[in-house]
Amino acid sequence: MSDKKETIKDIYDRLQGIEDEELQEKYITIILTLLEKGYFPGLAGIPVVKSRVSKVDGENGVLTYRGYKATELAQHYSYEDVCFLLLHEDLPLPEEREKLCKRFMDNKEIDPSVARTLVAMDDNLHPMNVLSAGVLNLQGPDKTAREVLDYNQNMKRSIRLIAKFPSIIGVFRSNDPDYASGRDFDTFAEYILYSFNPELSEKKEWVDMFEELLILHADHTLNNSTFSARAVGSAQASLYSSISSAINSLSGPLHGGANERVIEMLADIDSPADVEKYVDHKLERKEKIMGVGHRVYKTYDPRAIYIKENMLPVLFNGKEVKASGVTEELQEQYEIAQKLEEVVLDRLGPKRIYPNVDFWSGLVLRAMGIEPSFFTTIFALGRIMGWCAHWVEHMEVTNKIYRPTQLYDGFEERELLVGPESEN
Ligand code: ACO
Repeated sequence: MSDKKETIKDIYDRLQGIEDEELQEKYITIILTLLEKGYFPGLAGIPVVKSRVSKVDGENGVLTYRGYKATELAQHYSYEDVCFLLLHEDLPLPEEREKLCKRFMDNKEIDPSVARTLVAMDDNLHPMNVLSAGVLNLQGPDKTAREVLDYNQNMKRSIRLIAKFPSIIGVFRSNDPDYASGRDFDTFAEYILYSFNPELSEKKEWVDMFEELLILHADHTLNNSTFSARAVGSAQASLYSSISSAINSLSGPLHGGANERVIEMLADIDSPADVEKYVDHKLERKEKIMGVGHRVYKTYDPRAIYIKENMLPVLFNGKEVKASGVTEELQEQYEIAQKLEEVVLDRLGPKRIYPNVDFWSGLVLRAMGIEPSFFTTIFALGRIMGWCAHWVEHMEVTNKIYRPTQLYDGFEERELLVGPESEN
């Protein structure tokens, strides 16, 4: 008993000795949660891995990839730069960027058997299901996919998978396995946009904006989908199995699927004058406003600010980019979204709940003529870089299979009635 008392005193002394107040508060919250609830709902605040890929400062609203601000990377750097950075920890030299772009282009075609499967898929399948199934199918032609402990192979496989990602969507959308044959692309972002909107991909200003959006989505620490990728990877399942799981996780409306739901919500509201009533009705019924709230940010999501301030004014005020996709209906939705933001900030701001990246991104994609059901696949086309970086990192750490425990809340052991007396 005295040993226990000493341990408890030791825990107290250690907590007291932590100089970093924020960290001290985190540890206290973890201990209190355990004492009060006996488990950690949603694993909130529980660190399960050491990672070097990205960092979120949720108090100040700063997201960094390998130490660089995501918003600055979006403004000044390319998809290839950010992919290289996430995988290799440093930005590429010009020749390294060029080499990566060439590797993407050389590897973008998918195996004919996989392409045929994609063409045969039911048109009513949600594109996120198609993407997930497509990734799993890519494992077929990769004979060494189950060898997951070779760093060099993991890096090469990641590049090959990223290169083929847009093709899954492009083949499914066009029903044509050769949808991009005979076309040259200057950058990978141009190819990705081509897979969604060939006409727009010919205009540099649209490719640039699309690329910014992809980079803003490239990574975000241990979010639900990245956790899925790492959890599946921790069982030493293949990259394809891990990324396919991550895609399924991202499809959920509480995660990446929110961008599609936001546009549906805006369409449900008739005019800016109806917004207050809509929000209050939702809040009274304890329903969520889509594109709002975040587990980590206690302030405005920096990615959302970037889209709101740098992209939307260009599209909706028509200053630089000719926004052909901005119809009267979409212009009205933008106005509804602006009013919605105002009301959300008023009602939920005091609870430190703010719009997240999904609140604004759909309006940009809509202006690009992309259908809402494809929005989350575009999120995935950015996030694939981060998923791969995390997965490769996970294969390098001293792995312990993810296997948390539970607080059992069911029956104690019961006797089964067996034999003649149990028959009636
Ligand atoms: N609308 C209204 N109230 C909200 C919202 C919202 N969007 N988000 C959180 N709250 C409230 C909850 O009702 C709850 O209130 P209470 O304490 O009075 O019960 C409190 O804030 C905490 O909410 P939780 O859902 O417990 O917070 P959690 O950290 O578990 O969830 C999440 C975060 C899932 C993002 C949540 O805010 C949400 O469901 N948002 C809507 C969906 C969405 O936009 N998802 C995209 C997230 S960003 C991304 O994945 C890229």
